Amino acid sequence: AMHTVTLIPGDGIGPEITAAAVKVIEASGAPIQWDRHLAGMAALEKFGTPLPEETLESFRRNKVALKAPLTTPVGGGYRSVNVTLRQEFDLFANVRPAMSFEGTRARFDDVNLVTVRENTEGLYAGIEHFIKAEGKTIAAESIALVTRTGCERIVDYAFRYARQTGRKKVAIVHKANILKCTSGLFLEIGREVAKRYPDIECEDRIVDACAMQMVMDPGQFDVIVTTNLFGDILSDLASGLVGGLGLTAGANIGREAAMFEAVHGSAPDIAGKGIANPTALIMAGVMMLEHLGEQATARRIEQAVRAVIKEGKHVTPDLKPGSTCTTQEMADAIVAELQS
Ligand code: NAI
Ligand code: MG
Repeated sequence: AMHTVTLIPGDGIGPEITAAAVKVIEASGAPIQWDRHLAGMAALEKFGTPLPEETLESFRRNKVALKAPLTTPVGGGYRSVNVTLRQEFDLFANVRPAMSFEGTRARFDDVNLVTVRENTEGLYAGIEHFIKAEGKTIAAESIALVTRTGCERIVDYAFRYARQTGRKKVAIVHKANILKCTSGLFLEIGREVAKRYPDIECEDRIVDACAMQMVMDPGQFDVIVTTNLFGDILSDLASGLVGGLGLTAGANIGREAAMFEAVHGSAPDIAGKGIANPTALIMAGVMMLEHLGEQATARRIEQAVRAVIKEGKHVTPDLKPGSTCTTQEMADAIVAELQS
């Protein structure tokens, strides 16, 4: 069956890497039909808002979006589009795989881990304020809101994801020794949920020690599930373990809708030069195809990307300093590999 996907080409390098990702996905023969809509600066210029109603409407209808990075407009009092989309569609799970690619200069070659980050509550619930006395700010307070429902659904998602993707182990990452209530509740519920998945090994790790272990020996990790702030930090750390921003993708998943994106931003420093690495957005497309049940096509695209990076002839300069390969040339090499 044909799947209709909301496509948001984004800002900065967004349109360049979107063209590359669309070319690769179309060459794979995946039954995808694009419903293109603007968001970010491009939308602000055309519609006077970074998130036009027609874009929201398209995502509401299609329930799946592939989104290139957006430049967050400075000033103007606009809410971040990413935060708005997460809240509007309750995209509670942020899933970020970090897998080694052969042929990169990354420090490790055996990383194959997935961070599952709670995306809607915790310390990022947005409940914060300054405390003033005699007109002067004397303190600030942020409240970490952790709910039973929130913990349960994210840990259950992580275990279900592990089972469905053939993974063996889930690490519940927390700081329950110090944050006895918020992290304590997350850990307690996490252990309860784990009992429903006797086929998946469960362990718990304290976040700071976990960060150290990820840097020393990342090969020991499989799935990591954790609260919002810890997941934000550990998933970026994991990207760094496999060669950086040009390579890693993430999914924002809710009960109804899902949005797929590169981990990186709009890279204004290289926008328009045609040298951005399209891999992260292509891998976001791979995650999207898996979500749509198009596993075989997803695997073929991933294998083609891996082959091109391993060969190292047609890779952008972030992967090989001095390379003159462009975004489009790398995409063409991936297409040629797909068709070989
Ligand atoms: P960035 O990720 O755009 O860039 C950081 C560095 O990585 C830059 O040197 C850039 O050239 C390089 N880089 C990023 N992606 C690359 C690629 N595909 N190929 C080669 N090099 C790449 O982060 P930065 O500069 O902090 O943010 C720029 C803008 O992006 C900001 O407006 C920020 O708010 C936005 N942003 C949006 C995100 C999203 O829409 N999901 C996520 C992160 C940032
Ligand atoms: Mg982050």
